[in-house]
Amino acid sequence: MSTKVVVGAQWGDEAKAKIVDYLAGEADIVARFQGGANAGHTVIVGDRKFVFHQIPVAAMHPDKICVIGNGVALDPVGLIQEIAELEAEGISLEGRLFISPHAHLVMPYHKLLDRLIDESKGKGKIGVTGRGIGPCYRDKAARTGIRAGDLLDHGLFREKLSANLWEKNRILAALYEHEPFDEQPIAEEFMTLGERIVPCLTDVSLYLNRAMTDGKRILFEGAQGTFLDIDHGSYPFVTSSNTTAGGACTGTGVGPTKMDEVIGVVKSYTTRVGSGPLPTQFEGEFQERMRKQWGEYGATTGRGRRCGWFDAVLVRYSARINGLSSLALTRLDSLDELDSIRICVAYEVRGKRIEDFPWQPGLLTECTPIYEEMAGWKTDTSEVRGFDELPDRARDYLGRISALTGPPISIVSVGPERNQTIVVK
Ligand code: IMP
Repeated sequence: MSTKVVVGAQWGDEAKAKIVDYLAGEADIVARFQGGANAGHTVIVGDRKFVFHQIPVAAMHPDKICVIGNGVALDPVGLIQEIAELEAEGISLEGRLFISPHAHLVMPYHKLLDRLIDESKGKGKIGVTGRGIGPCYRDKAARTGIRAGDLLDHGLFREKLSANLWEKNRILAALYEHEPFDEQPIAEEFMTLGERIVPCLTDVSLYLNRAMTDGKRILFEGAQGTFLDIDHGSYPFVTSSNTTAGGACTGTGVGPTKMDEVIGVVKSYTTRVGSGPLPTQFEGEFQERMRKQWGEYGATTGRGRRCGWFDAVLVRYSARINGLSSLALTRLDSLDELDSIRICVAYEVRGKRIEDFPWQPGLLTECTPIYEEMAGWKTDTSEVRGFDELPDRARDYLGRISALTGPPISIVSVGPERNQTIVVK
């Protein structure tokens, strides 16, 4: 391996962190390329639990270089706090955290506007994480954003802040009857934060491309999931970045011909947090029971996630959009106790069977899943370490998922611990 991209192939929360942490063991450098503090990546090592929001999960490995690419919406307040929390756990990032000067900064007004804009949508609200992601990327697209590199020049930073506040304070007053922001305290806070960020600024594209020439192994760590992609997801119920594999190129400055492998992480079932359709969603009491049993609550916001059966239509689409080389399937053990397990193989919509994820606006809400049902294996798989040792029915389940979606399965996870990982030969 030299370069691997890991992306979520569902709606985020596929337990990517566990897979990234595992693969980071074989990498020299791990780079985040999109999203920001909206992500919550949980890694469990023994009785210690770590939640990463902006820093690549590879920080757990003391010898790995951590990179934050230009595609990330960087919240410097959260970042410094995250660094301090890791330091308190004995994990130092000194000399091994590199940040692109082109990463856009999440400002205090982005966080406030994120909440106000979403609340103002009433029934149509997206259910954002409130981390300022949408408004930050909005400014990036409008070419008015402030970037990490602007922290190098106090005068320029102040000028950009002033121009932004001129606009944001008017919007806050006119649309939301909200108090304006004061420039001085923000400028002072960001200059202090800048003292910590500036030493990490690096030409990430140059660094990664040189590292590849030197034979270094690079892992690109995606956040969120394919159906939250701003272009290819279930718009408008999406996040504001490209969560799909192409984002690894645009979000770091590494060309597509340099990517060797793309691994899509899927859970053995489907979950979704926030608003938007979820065709295979469990009904009634079963929903509540499984959410509790599986502990499906967000690492960033604590919100309950909606749970449903594995949806092969979605993952087939993910395989195409991301050009997946293989799937890493997590939480197989979560299905151990079920008597029977369903897989959605196609949808029925307006009397027709469709095999492909619909492109027509709103049609997903009308889709009824067509299921195949399999008998459960009713065996504890959490201690299994070899693919051949899995119960026959569990292997059949995995085989069916691969056949229905396209890519082979390269990794199966049977628990949160590092060693609860099966590499499929
Ligand atoms: P935003 O990214 O905060 O703008 O939120 C937009 C949508 O993406 C909302 O439905 C969120 O719940 C969802 N979302 C954002 N980040 C994550 C994540 O890391 N996992 C799952 N859903 C997410």
